[in-house]
Amino acid sequence: MTVWKLAERLRIAVVGLPLALGGCDKEPRQSAPRAIVIIDAGQRDAPAPAPDAELDAAAPADAAPAPIASVRLPPLRACSEGSWCAPHGQAASHASTRAADFQGCATDLRMRKNSQDFSLVISRSRTKAKQDAGQDLCCYTWSARCKATPGRALLDRGAVVLAELLGGPLPPGGDDDRARTWAERGLGEHASIAAFARAASELAAVDAPPALLAATVRAGRDEVAHARGCFALASRHAGARIQPGPLPALAARPGGLAAIAHDSFLEGCVHETLSVPAALDWQRHASPEERPLLARIIRDETRHAELAWRTVAWAVAAGGPEARDALADAAARARADFAAHPAWPILVEPTLALI
Ligand SMILES: [Fe+2]
Ligand SMILES: [Fe+2]
Repeated sequence: MTVWKLAERLRIAVVGLPLALGGCDKEPRQSAPRAIVIIDAGQRDAPAPAPDAELDAAAPADAAPAPIASVRLPPLRACSEGSWCAPHGQAASHASTRAADFQGCATDLRMRKNSQDFSLVISRSRTKAKQDAGQDLCCYTWSARCKATPGRALLDRGAVVLAELLGGPLPPGGDDDRARTWAERGLGEHASIAAFARAASELAAVDAPPALLAATVRAGRDEVAHARGCFALASRHAGARIQPGPLPALAARPGGLAAIAHDSFLEGCVHETLSVPAALDWQRHASPEERPLLARIIRDETRHAELAWRTVAWAVAAGGPEARDALADAAARARADFAAHPAWPILVEPTLALI
């Protein structure tokens, strides 16, 4: 039974981890026990995976995971969020580099408070209501940094790297909230293509098992499809072609097993794992035209999360104490940003404890 069929049968997405304990096997143990976390999804309309004979020939068949844990996630609304209004000048002092203008207000803000990063997005309806009432205010909705990127993150010295939209930020007005949402998802998917390309290169440099390398290359191809789908929906909502610009150049990384354990945990185990419940949350509010893409993203990101955990488990088993210390360092960093995420204690910590 494939992972997808299991998910369909149980209305779940599955994150699995083959334990690579005891020794430094180059090949992951396909028969090893798996930790399975089951989360409520209700997805039934995903298209079948596209056949990829060339890559599938080198990759192991999807194993039937044996569930040992079953958890229903709480609503992700528990991620702290709210609304905030401030005078133009105060808001402008926090404007992000991608901010546009709406009635004299910067549309996107970034803020750091009490050691936590927040992103704020203009609320056009509240801003217009305040200004119509004679109040010189800009109003925003804010959310804590605990939201993951939609897929494998492209990190550069700990910071998430995204391209800008070609031609600059989306203009305000019309149906642009949906266009903006899909454009932002598309930028995350676009960055994931580069993240997997870099990961494949780093795995090849340490002579990783062919199955891991092939799965990493295949995952990058999934991200191409995700990015195309997101930008197609963004363009449809915007009524104009929306596409990503170039990614910034990245700093070189040292590579090696310890670095792979560290970086794959942050980029994959954290962001890919947490992107699955986020996508499930999007799916609950999706229109019929958006559902097929979201169903594919949920299916693929579930597989990518499993790949990330499998990669980290292998790197720690092969890399020994240095790799284990690097993983512990990465986990401490991630907790600072994501421990407040409602899925963190259910999905990430229990799986991490098994490595
Ligand atoms: Fe993706
Ligand atoms: Fe992904």
